[in-house]
Amino acid sequence: MSRIPTLEQAEALLKEYNKEDFHLRHAQIVSGVLGWFAQKYDPERTEYWKAVGMLHDLDFEQWPEEHCIKSQELMREHGIDESVIRATASHGYGITVDIRPEHVMEKVLYAVDELTGLIGAVAIMRPSKSVDDLELKSVKKKFKTPSFAAGCSREVIQKGADMLGMPLDDLISDTILAMRSLNPGMGL
Ligand SMILES: [Fe+2]
Ligand SMILES: [Fe+2]
Repeated sequence: MSRIPTLEQAEALLKEYNKEDFHLRHAQIVSGVLGWFAQKYDPERTEYWKAVGMLHDLDFEQWPEEHCIKSQELMREHGIDESVIRATASHGYGITVDIRPEHVMEKVLYAVDELTGLIGAVAIMRPSKSVDDLELKSVKKKFKTPSFAAGCSREVIQKGADMLGMPLDDLISDTILAMRSLNPGMGL
């Protein structure tokens, strides 16, 4: 029998396969940011969105080469619902899998996965080391500097904004707000 995991179950499963602080923190951030966007697009299913965020990189610490492929197998073994498996795997669209983000949640995941990394990297450079006083224009400036946080794909972020039919500025502004809503101590 397949199930939609609660946020707590998703976190427990994540911790079975992930030990490094970096990965655990990234999962928490993406989960929290998806929760913020769920309030806007799909408020009844906020916990579902958060669980997807929590599990999206389930396989990345141990199986980076099979990212978004191995995770499908792991979740199936644990009886996780196919909709969650699909949603999490879709952020590897065009890289390791051919699962196109269709649902708005999948598009948000696709867009914010890289963007939260970029915003976090900009925030950490500030005297406050915080997103609280971070402005859109600071992020935009770094967005246009490819050597800064070069691992955060600008192409993916832009593609995510396009999928959502959202101007890039709005996506960045919303994601800053979403990150401000997270608990402090999440690496920012
Ligand atoms: Fe990923
Ligand atoms: Fe990720």
